[in-house]
Amino acid sequence: MFLPIHIQMDNRPCLIVGGSLVAARKCMKLLEYGARVTAVAPAFCHDPVWQQAGVTCLCQPYDSSLLAGIFLAIAATDDQQVNASVLADAEKLGVLAQRTDQADAGDFFLPATLRQGTLTVSFGTDGVNPAFSRMLRDQAAARYDEAYSVYGAMTEEIRGSAAWQRLAQQQRKSGLRALSRCSGRALSLIRSGNHAEARELLAAAAGIKAATTTIQPVCLIGAGPGDPGLITVKGAERLQQAEVVLYDGYANPLFLQQYCPDAEHIDVGKHKGGTCRTQAEINDLMLEKAATGAAVVRLKGGDPLMFGRGGEEARLLAKHGIPFEIIPGVTSALAAPTYAGIPVTDREFASSVGFYSMHKKEGELLSDQEWQRMAQGPDTLVLLMGSTVLQEIAGNLIRCGRAPATPVALITKGTHPTQTRYLGTLATIAGLAERHRPERPGLVVVGDVVNVIPAMDWFPCVTISGTEA
Ligand SMILES: C[S@@+](CC[C@H](N)C(=O)[O-])C[C@H]1O[C@@H](n2cnc3c(N)ncnc32)[C@H](O)[C@@H]1O
Repeated sequence: MFLPIHIQMDNRPCLIVGGSLVAARKCMKLLEYGARVTAVAPAFCHDPVWQQAGVTCLCQPYDSSLLAGIFLAIAATDDQQVNASVLADAEKLGVLAQRTDQADAGDFFLPATLRQGTLTVSFGTDGVNPAFSRMLRDQAAARYDEAYSVYGAMTEEIRGSAAWQRLAQQQRKSGLRALSRCSGRALSLIRSGNHAEARELLAAAAGIKAATTTIQPVCLIGAGPGDPGLITVKGAERLQQAEVVLYDGYANPLFLQQYCPDAEHIDVGKHKGGTCRTQAEINDLMLEKAATGAAVVRLKGGDPLMFGRGGEEARLLAKHGIPFEIIPGVTSALAAPTYAGIPVTDREFASSVGFYSMHKKEGELLSDQEWQRMAQGPDTLVLLMGSTVLQEIAGNLIRCGRAPATPVALITKGTHPTQTRYLGTLATIAGLAERHRPERPGLVVVGDVVNVIPAMDWFPCVTISGTEA
């Protein structure tokens, strides 16, 4: 197995056997990292690298004596026998060696690397598929842009400063962690040309300068319904810049590890297993964190403004003079039916849809007038926060005029691998749920569109049907 390791190459003597373009590329790489290269070949291709300082070219056949005192050798000829001899000779002398015609046969391989200042990102496949490594490296180039190089230089500057030298060991450790935590914000300042502000921010985070608190906009982000692919590009970008994330129970926790592992993660879920904070406590926490000048993200399941109290939180921020930004998300009200094979509108079955919360402000169910309006309203009804009151929902909708045979789907864990759909009618759905005790969260779809499922069943999920009341 190959151990990824960064080796100091400054002035290390290296041997390249071969004078082809492949040999020239390897020579270039070694020079880039400060090595001294001796190249040996009967003839050399036309390439400026052979004339560079630090390269000695010997126009002669390979000879094992050339390996004396060499740290690392690369056999890059088109003669398999010569390459094999280089490896065998190197082994006897304890010199690390590699052959370019069999990348997985030697002691090491050169991974595909991307450098941005002090940051190195490298990809390797143990020499099995170098082209794949190069492809991944090229893809990573879009993410690890020039700003990382500037961030690295600023970090180096801080570490070289007299103020940093005066810090105790423990302070330096926590300073380094803080520098990583605020990297997202520093990178976006650098990208927008605010280098001085980025420098100030990093110096304050490292603990070598008093912080000047500038309040950052709090970002309310919709995390989507559960499938980690259903977050917006902008939402993911903002998460990468977050220093504090207040997340609720419906937001997929994978996002935290993927986009902002170093940020402070605070579970403010009101769900089972969460910390059961009240909305007032969440509000206080959000204001308190924003007041520190940290980049605060409020990550909410689905869309922040779809029965998510995002509107209340935004108004609270406005009231306290804290700027905010709202990044919409894919709501479960649309995504769960879609993943269950139900189009909420369809030219053949429904030309209108209504979204309803089954929880009102004080926790009570709807008024009689509201039931009437709903039952006689849109063709398709999507009911959130109602999976535990199916008896009341079905009873009231039938009482107010919907046919008992109206198709109903209860979709639980929508868009998750464990998504389940319970299919029945207004007359049967409550009994079905009672018998199977569905998981949460779940939402209910009422209307003829539920009958489309067999023709649009695209996402694998468990189906439980029931015709008995
Ligand atoms: C407080 S509301 C938040 C809705 C969220 N803002 C949205 O846009 O999806 C919570 C309700 O959304 C529904 N819900 C959220 N995620 C769901 C999912 N993955 N599958 C089914 N229903 C879900 C359930 O009805 C749950 O009780």
